[in-house]
Amino acid sequence: MKRIKLPVHIAFIMDGNGRWAKRRFRPRGYGHKMGVQNMFKICSHAFDLGVRIVTVYALSTENLSRPKEEVDELFDLFRTFFGKKKDKMQEMGVKINVVGDITVLPPDIQESILEMMDETSHLVRGLLNICINYGSRQEIIRAVNAAVSYGRFVDEQSFSSLLETGGIPDPDLIIRTGGELRLSNFLLYQAAYSELYFSGKMWPEFSKRDLEKAIENYSARDRRFGNVQEE
Ligand code: FPP
Repeated sequence: MKRIKLPVHIAFIMDGNGRWAKRRFRPRGYGHKMGVQNMFKICSHAFDLGVRIVTVYALSTENLSRPKEEVDELFDLFRTFFGKKKDKMQEMGVKINVVGDITVLPPDIQESILEMMDETSHLVRGLLNICINYGSRQEIIRAVNAAVSYGRFVDEQSFSSLLETGGIPDPDLIIRTGGELRLSNFLLYQAAYSELYFSGKMWPEFSKRDLEKAIENYSARDRRFGNVQEE
């Protein structure tokens, strides 16, 4: 890769698993399964390149309204990932943090999630945030209600700390695969100054080289954060 300005934090909207599978005459669940494999590959590559924080949108609050069969397949993938991939995560050397309301998940998965978070809490190579049953509007409303219940006004800093991503720097780059051009209730507050990158590739086919291209594209952008460019 050319000499580039690396984002500290990349967030992914891993869209297109279903369409990728359908094009291959396979069930949607197969697309999600391959999506998880690709998540490992792309996240590892991001950390290898020196990215410090990766956030993935694994399940939105709205995704839970999908047919029960598909939701159960996704739950099975979580079960395998959090229950059996602890060694792989240790190998990657990154701390796992789950963002979102996991109380809707079967108790055994909740338990494995807490275990994985605990067992990786000492790892310092990077941070992998996995958003499950996450919705940004719901997160913002919860934060507002928390501020009201504490009976205090908030500023940008104190409000950020009430969000589920409190303490984590905002994403520098948000990458969405699958060809749709929207954020779909993902990190709406945190994305105020994120650079957005949309790929027409479906998530299971998004490659390491595609990630590098997205980072190169990011690197060439001029981030002014509402300011003017210095001459
Ligand atoms: C969007 O594709 C993707 C999802 C709803 C789920 C993404 C989840 C994973 C890749 C698994 C994450 C798992 C773990 C273990 C963390 P879509 O089904 O909306 O695709 P489509 O737009 O083509 O229908």
